[in-house]
Amino acid sequence: MIVIHDPKVLQQTALELRAQGKKIALVPTMGNLHAGHASLMDIARPLADVLIVSVFVNPTQFGPNEDYDKYPRTLEADKQVCEAHGVNIVFAPANESIYFPDASTFVNEHACSQGLCGRSRPIHFRGVCTVVNLLFNLAQPNVAVFGQKDAQQVAVLKRMVRDLHIPVEMVVGPIVRESDGLALSSRNQYLTARERAAAPQINAELQALADLAKTESDSKVLAKHFMDALGQDAVFEPEYIEIVNNSTMLPADKIEAGNTLVAVAVRMTESRTRLIDNIVL
Ligand code: PAJ
Repeated sequence: MIVIHDPKVLQQTALELRAQGKKIALVPTMGNLHAGHASLMDIARPLADVLIVSVFVNPTQFGPNEDYDKYPRTLEADKQVCEAHGVNIVFAPANESIYFPDASTFVNEHACSQGLCGRSRPIHFRGVCTVVNLLFNLAQPNVAVFGQKDAQQVAVLKRMVRDLHIPVEMVVGPIVRESDGLALSSRNQYLTARERAAAPQINAELQALADLAKTESDSKVLAKHFMDALGQDAVFEPEYIEIVNNSTMLPADKIEAGNTLVAVAVRMTESRTRLIDNIVL
């Protein structure tokens, strides 16, 4: 495994590998790697000759009052996770090498990015699309693997790849959870003990909603059920629950089995940590 910091070196290396006929897989991450990230590496590994993992806390996808400064940066531990999962190249660039001081080009997706997280994080998906497009140009992947944990991110990026005719195959890995159901996230470590104990209820209520959806197809009724259940505990401040089409992220009034996504964001009131989770009905 090698670690590359310089974008030009990565691009040159990737272009040479592609010229030799090698297939490249990319797993983009912001580091602080956990078993969710590792599962994406395991999915990617057999799909290509060369597996690249990028570790870059992307400033352009954080809003002014978000956790960019305190986001955990743990490159040494991340390298060990990568090594253990058969990664060939870790790409860990410095900020200044990715964004020119006067960078003025961004990628905007205007449909899938509007609801859900896009409502409270208006510049988030612009930053995600821009950096992923940029990483594709540097790493030259044939295939890229993303997690269903960030279901809206998947929909937005798939739309970007389609609309811009980007020659990258998009693969999606399932959500990896703790044994109590809490979806793994680098942000879980911000939780207080009380929040951590309560947090699995988010997934439990999504499961309950999925059960209820077998007999109740009205989205409003289902959403209210979820909000009422979480509202019982003051540690939860639900930001949204949206029941949407899984590809377009547009509201689905009625459930369409296999194609309807229930996505939630919940603010934890003690640490102000924002957790997201989802389930496909
Ligand atoms: P990050 O939050 O580090 O996540 C990197 C990848 O890991 C994403 O595709 C995310 O969906 C996936 N992931 C996170 N938690 C997961 C879990 N519990 N189970 C399965 N997959 C999980 O998402 C980003 O970084 C950034 O927005 C990025 C795409 C790297 C662009 O900066």
